[in-house]
Amino acid sequence: MGGAFITSHSTSIKVLLLTLTLVLFTILPVYLLIISPSPWLSLTDYVKNTKLGNRCDMFRGKWIPYSDGPYYTNETCNVIFDQQNCMKFGRPDTDFLKWRWKPNQCELPLFDAVQFLELVRGKSMAFVGDSVGRNQVQSLLCLLASVVYPSDVSKTKDPRFRQWLYKDYNFTLASYWSPHLVKAINTYPTGPTYNRLVNLYLDEANDAWADEIEAFDFVIVSAGQWFFGPQVYYENHRIIGCYNCPMNNVKNLTMFYGYRKAFRTTFQTLWSLKNFKGVTYLRTLSPAHFENGEWNAGGSCSRTQPVTRRKMKLKGDSLKFYRTQVEELRRAEKEGRKRGLKFRILDTSEAMVVRPDGHPNHYGHWPQENVTIADCVHWCLPGPVDTWNEFLVQMLKMEI
Ligand SMILES: *[C@@H]1O[C@H](CO)[C@@H](O)[C@H](O)[C@H]1NC(C)=O
Ligand SMILES: *[C@@H]1O[C@H](CO)[C@@H](O)[C@H](O)[C@H]1NC(C)=O
Ligand SMILES: *[C@@H]1O[C@H](CO)[C@@H](O)[C@H](O)[C@H]1NC(C)=O
Ligand SMILES: *[C@@H]1O[C@H](CO)[C@@H](O)[C@H](O)[C@H]1NC(C)=O
Repeated sequence: MGGAFITSHSTSIKVLLLTLTLVLFTILPVYLLIISPSPWLSLTDYVKNTKLGNRCDMFRGKWIPYSDGPYYTNETCNVIFDQQNCMKFGRPDTDFLKWRWKPNQCELPLFDAVQFLELVRGKSMAFVGDSVGRNQVQSLLCLLASVVYPSDVSKTKDPRFRQWLYKDYNFTLASYWSPHLVKAINTYPTGPTYNRLVNLYLDEANDAWADEIEAFDFVIVSAGQWFFGPQVYYENHRIIGCYNCPMNNVKNLTMFYGYRKAFRTTFQTLWSLKNFKGVTYLRTLSPAHFENGEWNAGGSCSRTQPVTRRKMKLKGDSLKFYRTQVEELRRAEKEGRKRGLKFRILDTSEAMVVRPDGHPNHYGHWPQENVTIADCVHWCLPGPVDTWNEFLVQMLKMEI
């Protein structure tokens, strides 16, 4: 009796186990496949599972060795600008490619191109800024190239204004060149860039981006080096002062004055556009690393490894620029909230300030070309600038 009971009990356990196995290994997977676009989890669930905890500030951390190396090479990505294609021009060291950013309180997930494209499906993203902003766009194009190249749907042939469409994802990516963000007129357009006097209309956004930005879902704004040059400041169509300019009886203002106003006008323009519903990101100052001289006095950047935080940190003018833009972003955040608009910070500066090894230096051109100035402003591709897009994915997840 007892034995029969035991037998029938164990039979029912067997049946139960069999059923469970069947459900787990066949029916459930098939069901999941049917209900979700990615194999096992829906995008939303996946994002929830891989979101960084609220308490993790991913922008504070350190670089740790990572032997797997970069996501792509100059052979697997064919859109790297020569000036940032350091390998092509014979940069001999590759250790600078073998580091990953490790936030203090969490792990920064690897860039997942499919996930990025799913996050931006049916959306559009614009980068507004200078050639360092474009550096990030190129990194993004290369990171996504492991899945697909977009088609170029630019409205012009001008390399400063590009637009791409990822057709399968209906994702539009655009790059607007506007190094001062506001309306700028070169008074001496053929002179060398760095000592040209520029008229800046600090209360007028540059039409080149402002006229087209309204429809974008994500806007990434940045500005930097161009504010070091001589500038005449206009407000309300009148000269109100200048920085480092050869004019008498014009009020001396600092470059930080111009920088602050340029960001204020940019953010103000975005939040006052009637149909703008996008999320705005400030990509913070990208530090330059000229050593043993200024950029125009033989300075260069020949390090091959990151440095410690003690060795390099934002200071002087860079720190002041950084603080200025962050203050304006905070201001915009408050104003934006009244309209239900999000302004967020893509705070790349701390990670980059300890990467003096990431710049092209003299490997942005052939050695025999007569270029004496080292490039310690832009970033080699691949290189530490790819981390900006690892950050960007995490930022996008916040919007899900
Ligand atoms: C890529 O870099 C290698 C050196 O690592 C160079 O020989 C090659 O010409 C480069 N290719 C392209 C397409 O830039
Ligand atoms: C593609 O996305 C845009 C917004 O970026 C939207 O207006 C358009 O309707 C979408 N097209 C298709 C075919 O889904
Ligand atoms: C502005 O500052 C420069 C030095 O930076 C100085 O030569 C010039 O006289 C100053 N101009 C005025 C109007 O104060
Ligand atoms: C390189 O440029 C300098 C200054 O621009 C010039 O004096 C020199 O002749 C140039 N050298 C070559 C080889 O072109």
